Amino acid sequence: MAQEATAVDYGPLSGLIGRWEGDKGLDVAPEPDGSEESPYYETILFEPIGTVTNAERQTLAAVRYHQVVRRKSDDEVFHNETGYWCWDAASRTVMVSFAIPRAVCVIAGGQVAGRSGPDEATVIEVAAHADEGDWRVIQSPFMSANARTIEFRRRLSYREDSLIYSQTTIVDIYGKRFEHTDENELRRVATTTDASGTVRE
Ligand code: HEM
Repeated sequence: MAQEATAVDYGPLSGLIGRWEGDKGLDVAPEPDGSEESPYYETILFEPIGTVTNAERQTLAAVRYHQVVRRKSDDEVFHNETGYWCWDAASRTVMVSFAIPRAVCVIAGGQVAGRSGPDEATVIEVAAHADEGDWRVIQSPFMSANARTIEFRRRLSYREDSLIYSQTTIVDIYGKRFEHTDENELRRVATTTDASGTVRE
């Protein structure tokens, strides 16, 4: 990393740093005969990790995150996601690159859609497609053939210690095009970071 994590300007991502918890989640997932709705709770940890420089011309501020989601009905982890949010101040672009343990990876990009004043929420919207555009989904041969993610969209809205997200993953599965959706509201439960970016309770 080019700079100490503490000296970096994370732009709109600075409002995400910390540990967040939420128990109002709802997942709608594909089933062969329709869909399944699962209420859930989760933890997301966002840690600042400094800057990277690409091709000596682009500087990104990066925040690493880990999301662990549990089904309310049985407390089992049923979604586990790890990745990086990056902020390119020069082009005012936000991007997220992440992997889920189904052999699916996403690199989605977009803009800060709103942030008009100190009392307003920061709103980030990113999207990616399997076959079109600059931002893509990649997946294993099995997933491409049997549960292909065609498109992914995510929206985050956050202000102070409140974060709301919603996302749509369009999956070609069981002979149909399914809108797999997730949404939750979270509260920040820890914010302080040490010099290495580690979040302290
Ligand atoms: C809170 C977030 C998420 C939760 C709780 C969740 C949960 C689920 C559940 C319960 C299924 C059905 C699994 C089964 O029937 O065995 C599923 C399927 C799937 N999910 Fe997610 N998911 C989330 C986010 C994502 C994201 C971000 C992606 C990709 C960008 C994704 C891609 C898929 C795919 C491709 C399938 C089809 C596999 C299958 O049903 O066999 N999911 N997810």
